[in-house]
Amino acid sequence: MSEISVLGLGSMGSTLARTLLSAGHAVTVWNRSQQKTELLVADGAEIGVTVADAVEASPVILVCIDNYTTTRKIFSSVEVLPLLADRIVVQMSSGTPREAVADEKWFVEKGAGYLDAAILGSPKAIGTETGQILIAGSEKLWQECNTVLECLAGNFQYTGNKIDSAKVLDLAWLSQRLGYFMGVFQGLLLCEAGGVGLDVFSATVAVDARASMMANTIQTNSFTDPVNTVKVWKEALHHIQKHANDIGSNSEVLDFIADKFQRAQSAGYEEEDLAALIKIFR
Ligand SMILES: NC(=O)c1ccc[n+]([C@@H]2O[C@H](COP(=O)([O-])OP(=O)(O)OC[C@H]3O[C@@H](n4cnc5c(N)ncnc54)[C@H](OP(=O)(O)O)[C@@H]3O)[C@@H](O)[C@H]2O)c1
Repeated sequence: MSEISVLGLGSMGSTLARTLLSAGHAVTVWNRSQQKTELLVADGAEIGVTVADAVEASPVILVCIDNYTTTRKIFSSVEVLPLLADRIVVQMSSGTPREAVADEKWFVEKGAGYLDAAILGSPKAIGTETGQILIAGSEKLWQECNTVLECLAGNFQYTGNKIDSAKVLDLAWLSQRLGYFMGVFQGLLLCEAGGVGLDVFSATVAVDARASMMANTIQTNSFTDPVNTVKVWKEALHHIQKHANDIGSNSEVLDFIADKFQRAQSAGYEEEDLAALIKIFR
């Protein structure tokens, strides 16, 4: 038996698994494309060849996959369903508050416990003091698995038993970041037009490290070495738009930002760093 199984080994899932292994936990991993599981064997992971193997291997199942639809799909097979009783499923995939509510209901019906988490930041922050993860659901379940999970972020906060609260806060955080990025691009345009170097912008008025990184990416024209991509942020924006639509909230700011992302996608910048949006603003 392992202490925890990690399902989904993309850039975020593999970082979560490696961090758990570095902290000394026994980890089983599963990924759709098996070559990514083999990369983790050297770090000490056990391989789950199937989802059923990984669910059987541990009491806590951490899922970090592209979206909730995929999560539901991989847990719905006749091999996996009977193994869910008494497991604690921790969803760290991105999604909407409504999806968190629906997944809690579904997993509880299948006999599992369910916690819903949100990762605020990039894989680089995982396992560091600045890493931030929010988690919602039954406090009893959280207490049962927090000793394993807490190594993943210096700032790991339990947001209460309202299962959608982590995702609501996640979307609120993402909204702030996206609005801020629009201001950063405007500021960088002013510097470019005013003949002020973007390195000077970084050294004087950049509000945070991400603004400095974007200034550097633009100045060095290194858009193809992303910190995080246009695509990742477009997906985040999509979740905010979906939630705003679900609850009937005003979306004028979101519509403005979505137009920039749509134009970046049409121009072929999806796999480039978020800083590539400057090319749309220009
Ligand atoms: N990266 C970030 O900065 C960041 C930050 C916060 C939250 N997140 C969230 O974390 C989650 C994972 O992100 P990531 O960056 O690791 O993404 P990623 O690198 O694109 O990896 C996606 C993962 O989902 C799996 N997957 C996709 N479709 C699947 C399917 N139909 N069946 C089974 N597996 C499937 C992929 O498997 P294959 O390897 O087989 O393709 C891979 O393991 C996402 O929900 C993302 O929004 C990411």
